Amino acid sequence: MSHRCAILAAMVSMDTLVSLCKRRGFVFQSSEIYGGTGSCWDYGPLGVELKGNIKRVWWRDFVQRRPDMVGIDASILMHPMVWKASGHLDHFTDPMVDCRECKLRFRADQVDALPWTHYCPATKGNKFTIPAGEPCGHCGARRTLCPDCGKGELTTPRQFNLMFKTFMGPVEEDAAVTYLRPETAQAMFVNFENVLQSMRLKLPFGIAQTGRSFRNEITPGNFIFRTREFEQMEIEYFVNPHDRVEGRPADEYWHDRWIEDCLAWFRRYGLRDENLRLREHERDELSHYSKRTVDIDYRFPIGWSELMGIANRTDFDLKQHAKASGKSLSYFDEERKEHVVPYVVEPAAGVDRALLAFLADAYLEEEVRGEKRIVLRFHPELAPVKVAVLPLLKKREDIVRTAHAIRDDLARHWRAVYDDTAAIGRLYRRQDEVGTPYCVTVDVQTVGDTDKGERADGKVTIRDRDSMEQIRVPESRLGAVFGELLGGQSWADVAARVGRA
Ligand code: GAP
Repeated sequence: MSHRCAILAAMVSMDTLVSLCKRRGFVFQSSEIYGGTGSCWDYGPLGVELKGNIKRVWWRDFVQRRPDMVGIDASILMHPMVWKASGHLDHFTDPMVDCRECKLRFRADQVDALPWTHYCPATKGNKFTIPAGEPCGHCGARRTLCPDCGKGELTTPRQFNLMFKTFMGPVEEDAAVTYLRPETAQAMFVNFENVLQSMRLKLPFGIAQTGRSFRNEITPGNFIFRTREFEQMEIEYFVNPHDRVEGRPADEYWHDRWIEDCLAWFRRYGLRDENLRLREHERDELSHYSKRTVDIDYRFPIGWSELMGIANRTDFDLKQHAKASGKSLSYFDEERKEHVVPYVVEPAAGVDRALLAFLADAYLEEEVRGEKRIVLRFHPELAPVKVAVLPLLKKREDIVRTAHAIRDDLARHWRAVYDDTAAIGRLYRRQDEVGTPYCVTVDVQTVGDTDKGERADGKVTIRDRDSMEQIRVPESRLGAVFGELLGGQSWADVAARVGRA
């Protein structure tokens, strides 16, 4: 039976997401019992599954399934020369200003975009918070002082390097200085020759990596959107700049292909069209290495912001590392009988930002028979739990035993959980709220009732999260039915074949 429901809210605030994430075990504040660590977050039992699924489908779709892709997993600590050659030591900086009064620190280029605190002389010094860029409505003053305390002057901007510095080995001296990587990308460049030779690759080909990166952001915030420690999923796709594809320079052709493929990937796993857009970088905002960069922006609860970037890095990095290391980082073009330094197209995504986007897009509040239902409509491949097995009566030992056995069997293939801690309606709502696509219910009919002389029918109920429809399926067919449902077939098709309950 399908249930009529009215959509109450399809756009979600950041506060609602943060609270849901904590309540349901997706994301916790890091070191919370000590008051928390600024801008650091821990993924809980469901968060780690969701994050793992995002990385897994990304790797499967962009590495495993493509003949032109390979992967690496490099160390986070690299030779300090890597960061000199890449330009990060000299250019990976943000302009920073300090308040002389309250000592808070801001990104100079973002100060004017912040709401500001004002002690208004026209109202005998009353304190107001005034929206970014607007004058005070009483005295007409514009922000000149610290946006936070409203009292202190700001220092002149200084450049602040975003890399975390540390020391290699037991002696804290200049010669031992090294850095936590601020991007995973450089490992692909410095391993270019190793990968090319060991795997005998032909251009065009790509190297992918997922892993942690660290940036000492001046103004982190907005939950997991901007943090100082985060995970990236990056690809460096090497092309021969002398090749032409469909009448265009190969690097430009592949740049557009990767933009399309990445956009299609986010759509496939649930992000709605109206929440996605492409944004071309202006000339003056291009990174020092980029010929052209296009961002995929997502309409986060904080507004349109970068989800990932796809840059044409030209031959900048390979040439820089070749110059600094003295090693040749080129490719021998058999046809033209010449050495060439490949151009690089770089699709660079953040795992945490992707997770935030998938969460926000999946969130839905609806009214079902007069009651509010919160549901995370995750794509089944991303859902942290695929199936919840629920006994209708937890006092019936045979029902409980059967439910446990079903869970154990399903768990050989998929993340499946057992829950008997509430009445069935409540259990369904809990699973809806964490995005579990299917629930299996074991009831009296499944196991029979000898006292009443009722025979077991060996069938269980499968409930679909989105439509809330139910079908009844022989226990022995559960594996095959979930194989179809979790293998990409629609509920409507499978339900029509198996027969609704
Ligand atoms: N190798 C290129 C590169 O790192 P980027 O645009 O600086 O490019 C790529 O980073 C992606 O990494 C971003 O689009 C974003 O998703 C993620 N990212 C960057 N800084 C982040 C931060 N401080 N917190 C969370 N994610 C971040």
